Amino acid sequence: MGAEETHALGYEQVDDDPNVAVLLATMDTTARWQATRRLRAWERQQLRLHDGQRLLDVGCGLGDAALVLAADLGVDGEVVGVDASAEMIAGARSRAHAAGCPMRFVVGDACTLDEPDSSFDVVRSERTLQWLTSPEAAVAEMTRVLRPGGLVSLIDTDWSTFEIDVGDDDLATRVREAMRTERARPSTIGRRLADLVQDLGCELHAQTTATQTWDAWDPDESPAPEGCFTMSSLADDLVDNGQLEGGDRERFVSTIHTAARHGRFSMALTMFAVVASRPR
Ligand SMILES: C[S@@+](CC[C@H](N)C(=O)[O-])C[C@H]1O[C@@H](n2cnc3c(N)ncnc32)[C@H](O)[C@@H]1O
Repeated sequence: MGAEETHALGYEQVDDDPNVAVLLATMDTTARWQATRRLRAWERQQLRLHDGQRLLDVGCGLGDAALVLAADLGVDGEVVGVDASAEMIAGARSRAHAAGCPMRFVVGDACTLDEPDSSFDVVRSERTLQWLTSPEAAVAEMTRVLRPGGLVSLIDTDWSTFEIDVGDDDLATRVREAMRTERARPSTIGRRLADLVQDLGCELHAQTTATQTWDAWDPDESPAPEGCFTMSSLADDLVDNGQLEGGDRERFVSTIHTAARHGRFSMALTMFAVVASRPR
């Protein structure tokens, strides 16, 4: 089985994953998704960053989103990126030379940030809460390090919105049911972002969504739709969830592959974003 075959897009323990190179490369692919670009542009508009501000990116990955925002902070501003993965942090450091302000990238845990209280003007986190056991604890930490009146910005996927259409209603229903069930992690966090910040006493300023769609995919050209998991990995997920018998796994995968080869394939996934402020 090749690396792409086993790749299931799990970001809890990036450094221990045999497919770490695929996980890192996927950050660049998903940064190109139209939905990601739209939400990052929306976030930048909402934040109205200015010279001299300090921004923290929690679960920063390769730091690309922070790198773009750094351009708005001027030479007196600062960006700090925290990520649990040393590989991600090494990648972020190697890209940071292009920044318009000082950038510091450190390995750390979103739920126990090694930063002083009230020390940032803006704290952001993108597509990271879905991998945490306690997103509530992470957002409480983000609020702690935010100055009163500072802004918190969260972007995350909601896997309960995932839809696949290969002209097979039964298959689509099973996938939908599996995706709606939260198991070891908060995979449907997207729709809860607004409640999460408001439960911590923050004032919600704006919220939006963006849907990523895949209208075509050639399984003979690439092992998975752009930036997504393989269909074998999706089948494993359904088996885990009790939506598919182990013996039907191969048939499930080949149904999707055959439909895609005949131009009968589409998928959609919605991401949510909120911007809120810490009370003064
Ligand atoms: C899907 S990636 C998103 C990266 C980046 N925010 C982006 O949008 O390109 C999720 C990131 O969360 C990080 N992560 C997972 N658990 C974490 C934790 N407990 N604390 C900090 N980062 C964590 C992973 O290492 C990974 O870089």
